Amino acid sequence: MIKNDLLLRVATQEHVERPPVWLMRQAGRILPEYRALREKVNGFKNLVENPELVCEVTMQPVRALHVDAAIMFSDILVIPEAMGLPYQMVESKGPWFEKTIDTPTDIQQLRLANPEADLKFVTDGIKLIKTELNNTIPLIGFAGAPWTIFSYMIEGKGSKTFSKARTFLYRHPEASHTLLQMITDSTIVYLKAQIAAGVNLVQLFDSWAGILSPKQYDTFSMPYIKQICDAITTVPKTVFAKGAFFARAALSDLNCNVIGLDWNMDIAESKAIINGKKALQGNFDPCGLFADKTTLVQETISMLNAFGTNHIANLGHGVYPDTPLDNVKLFVDTVQAHRY
Ligand code: CP3
Repeated sequence: MIKNDLLLRVATQEHVERPPVWLMRQAGRILPEYRALREKVNGFKNLVENPELVCEVTMQPVRALHVDAAIMFSDILVIPEAMGLPYQMVESKGPWFEKTIDTPTDIQQLRLANPEADLKFVTDGIKLIKTELNNTIPLIGFAGAPWTIFSYMIEGKGSKTFSKARTFLYRHPEASHTLLQMITDSTIVYLKAQIAAGVNLVQLFDSWAGILSPKQYDTFSMPYIKQICDAITTVPKTVFAKGAFFARAALSDLNCNVIGLDWNMDIAESKAIINGKKALQGNFDPCGLFADKTTLVQETISMLNAFGTNHIANLGHGVYPDTPLDNVKLFVDTVQAHRY
């Protein structure tokens, strides 16, 4: 039994005395101890691929911020790599892939991810984290949603428009479905391996959901998210489809427990659309953490009041690396002092 299981109780629609709080990207550059370790090991991938360091970096925000959940330290890009497209994390630029999927024939070079062979650093890391957490708080596992992973495999790097990826959908709809299905199958076995290793809830990040039209989202993203939600039956599931305000009703019909909202989505409107069918997570603007302390507290409380119960407090996207740590702590403390 987990001592502080607020997150899991909200996910399964139980009554709690206050909202749990954690932050997307809590493990990372906001913490000086992360930046020091990353410097010492010379790069991101040397952290991600070492189970002891995965455990250490996961625990850093737990110790520094006393959040109500840990999220395993890794990246969504381990899946393209396990399928045959290795990534690099370029200093101050972000992800970069030397090989990309440019044509339908390129898909033939890919394989399905095999978690035992390719992702043992993740599952070994999870086992160490579980020991270290010692049942104090839940551990969140995660993966990218198929459309977001597809975008990186086609585009080969970050992009404002992901126009190569969107073009591929128009030029090669059938091949797109083939690739999305391979990513989906890889993600299902990967999440099952994370669960077998000990994670208590899984989150799907569809970070580039909002660049598709509603019709394309219905065709190229939602069916694959649905397959994943239907295949994972033993832990609660969160779907965070950034920017997909148009998909909120469809998301609420998925076999998942929590829907993540970003700060562009109005809270009252989202509650009306989702109508109590799922718990909601989010949606504080990461820039709100740069406000003066009075404003930060006011804005946080106003968000908590707007959501009411069935809420997991979080940001509307990952915390920005240069956020003042004091303000991150104040956000967490403000949520934890709240009572319904
Ligand atoms: O949330 C957590 O604390 C867990 C760790 C986590 C990371 N990446 C670590 C990371 C999680 C959940 C992710 C998910 C991820 N990775 C997403 C989905 C969430 C989102 O932000 O939309 C995406 C799109 C990626 C791909 C990715 N990884 C990008 C675009 C970048 C570069 C941007 C940046 O912040 O520099 C990364 C790198 C990355 N992943 C870092 C961390 C801590 C920074 C790397 C560093 O130390 O320089």
